[in-house]
Amino acid sequence: MSLLIRGAHQVVTPLGTAARRGADLARLDVRQRAVVRCENGLIVFVGEEAEHERLFSDCDEVLDAGGGCVLPGFVDPHTHPVWAGSREDEFDRRLRGESYMDIARSGGGINATVRATRAASSEELLGGTLARLDNFLTHGTTTIEAKSGYGLDLETEIRMLEVIRDANRVHSVDLHSTCLAAHEVPPEHRDDPEAWVRLLIEEIHPEIARLGLAEAVDVFCETGVFDLEQTRSLLADAADFGWRIHLHADELTPLGGAELAVELDALSADHLMCVTPAGIAALAGSNTVAVLLPGTSFFLRSHFAPARKLIDAGCAVAVATDCNPGSSPTESMPTILALACLGMGMEVAEAITAATLNAAAAIGRANELGSIEVGKRADLVILDAPSYPHLVYHYGINPVRHVIKGGRIVVADARLIG
Ligand code: NIG
Ligand code: FE
Repeated sequence: MSLLIRGAHQVVTPLGTAARRGADLARLDVRQRAVVRCENGLIVFVGEEAEHERLFSDCDEVLDAGGGCVLPGFVDPHTHPVWAGSREDEFDRRLRGESYMDIARSGGGINATVRATRAASSEELLGGTLARLDNFLTHGTTTIEAKSGYGLDLETEIRMLEVIRDANRVHSVDLHSTCLAAHEVPPEHRDDPEAWVRLLIEEIHPEIARLGLAEAVDVFCETGVFDLEQTRSLLADAADFGWRIHLHADELTPLGGAELAVELDALSADHLMCVTPAGIAALAGSNTVAVLLPGTSFFLRSHFAPARKLIDAGCAVAVATDCNPGSSPTESMPTILALACLGMGMEVAEAITAATLNAAAAIGRANELGSIEVGKRADLVILDAPSYPHLVYHYGINPVRHVIKGGRIVVADARLIG
């Protein structure tokens, strides 16, 4: 199966198979009027049309990019896409002045979604997840990292991870699964959080690893949730389980999560709204990707992570939606890119690298995803935009016209077809 994309005004991509840092974050390869050829799911040619004609004969399908821009499909390296219910009531409470943590302490927050998720059938959870995946895809996202964490008991955590596995089988979006059973202390263990930590370490993590349901593990390392010592113990067996580590780090308080992520050689340290200078220095000297979630800052009406300081220090920075029902209910990477630029001071070119190649590095897949280069997977978006800055400049709309996943057209004229 071969596909030729022609008629683009620009083909725009970062280059390479590792996260880009510092000034390199803004270095995009921009080719005017280039064509892209895909065969058997991979990119086999990027360059001038005349050169393509010289090297290749015909192809099965031709897609006209209509003068738009071709970019790598977005990779969203931090999402919580499996849940039941919704929390618009809390949203109104927050607008009236209550804080996210106040609401959590009064029985709302993550535990409100836990109640709804435990009560939902696996079919209902899968249906909700697939609907969200449709939204991811029509907004240009072709791969997501997907966490459990609204079960907080063995049975429901397993059901959530099974939903992620089944969604990955049936939906065009690829899912990289992460066990986040250590997302919160469930109500039944509120009086003895240490018992919950022991249960996670002795039963829940080993059983999920034995079932092969997760590729990675995450912990909400935060004041009032899991402290540094608990987080360290929760992650001690990760390597034995074949799990890479992501960490919710320094989100609401400066606890030192970034330094711990580096100490544990985590793939990513995420949120970082309260990261300290020491945390920034640790990340800069490591391969751990700083995954920033400006949608969460915006939605919680809080401050943004210090993206400029992280970039200028030489950290590998990625961005993600954090898609979840409490602190960032969106699947839209174009929206996140607008917030990365307008809220965190990133340049458009930096934000594009952060949402593609660096996001792929944050899930350990920069060798196969995140750029438009020969040999990479043919995951592409075509924007209805004459030049790539329009992706952010023309904000608040969905600029994605076509999406190609593994060399197949799955969104055409902004409508889902695959
Ligand atoms: O990434 N920080 C912890 N977890 C989520 C919030 C989940 C929720 O509120 O339901 C986050 O922001
Ligand atoms: Fe999160």
